[in-house]
Amino acid sequence: MAIKTHEYLILAFETSCDDTAVALYSSLNGLLAHKIFSQFETHQKYGGVVPELASRDHLAKILPLTLEVLEQAGQKLPPNSCTNLSLEAITHIAYTKGPGLLGALLVGASFAKTLSFVLKIPAIGINHMEGHIFAPSLESELELPFLSLLISGGHSILVEVIALGEYKILGQSLDDAVGEAFDKCAKLLGLPMPGGRNLENLAAQHQGDLYPFPTPMVRHKTLNMSFSGLKTAVLNQVIASRQEFGENLPAQELAKIAKSFQTAAIETLYFKVRKALKLTSHRRLIISGGVSANTYLRQRFLSLQAETGVEIMYPRFEFCTDNAAMIAVACAKRLEAGIWADENFADEEVKVRFSLEDL
Ligand code: KG4
Ligand code: ZN
Repeated sequence: MAIKTHEYLILAFETSCDDTAVALYSSLNGLLAHKIFSQFETHQKYGGVVPELASRDHLAKILPLTLEVLEQAGQKLPPNSCTNLSLEAITHIAYTKGPGLLGALLVGASFAKTLSFVLKIPAIGINHMEGHIFAPSLESELELPFLSLLISGGHSILVEVIALGEYKILGQSLDDAVGEAFDKCAKLLGLPMPGGRNLENLAAQHQGDLYPFPTPMVRHKTLNMSFSGLKTAVLNQVIASRQEFGENLPAQELAKIAKSFQTAAIETLYFKVRKALKLTSHRRLIISGGVSANTYLRQRFLSLQAETGVEIMYPRFEFCTDNAAMIAVACAKRLEAGIWADENFADEEVKVRFSLEDL
């Protein structure tokens, strides 16, 4: 492996949806500090993310979080360190360029480009999904090529990562993303936000038999997936259970529905990944994005590891869901490889839709 001598000190921003996140990353010393502010409380009473409120929250939080990150990083330095963590020490700004909510992306991009103008350093727009793919490299080097399963609130994608910036999408959800299905089912079960994590916790309380929910497209010959039928099955079960138990379902019944849903959703992912591994012969699998924080998923995929011998890697739990450290690390990789396009004000766009294959 090449020895790195040049240091990139990257201040990164992630504002694609309902998390405001800032990170400071050194290409020589790794992550120096990071902060995430989750807007659950803002959106809770509406039962889902309200785009305009998300933008307002990003605007309110982005400067205080940046100051906190700089302070946190400064405190970590040894007393006689010659490293200077003033804004002037930063060599590059990274921000999420897309995909995401337009107003939310614009807040991060505007803040990043203003800093870039004042500090006279480049601002580099990063694809959010590329950030998720490389999040595990915050812990250890990733050897290319590999198969990536990207599972978040907006995406369920199986992608071949041939090289940095070279991606081939093998399959994806044709309707709801798996994280979206977790969120919608959590809402049907009356759980507060964050739905995915709360549904997992509820499911863990059930032991015993499960409802036989569908695993749509599992036997389909393509690597595409579908999760909206599963969500409808949960809705129908909630209606049927209410007829049996009354309007307020007992906790045990809610837990049984949650576990039945989670099992069916993860089985769908499991069989699609298994098929993709067979078709491509990859020996390494990276699973990332918010749903990769699911402990049941990680346990289930141990069987795949045992059966196929494939090496499976995940991001550290705190870097499964949206964060700016992954944006910084993807930016560092691009700088090291010499493949980045935006410099200063050259590319002004943010992209609501931004496929990995467009990179
Ligand atoms: O990557 P992420 O933070 O945002 C997007 O890019 O969409 O992913 C958020 C998604 C949400 O749908 C959330 O329900 C899901 O990840 N999620 C989980 C868990 N933690 C977050 N789903 C299942 N189990 C979890 N523990
Ligand atoms: Zn994400």
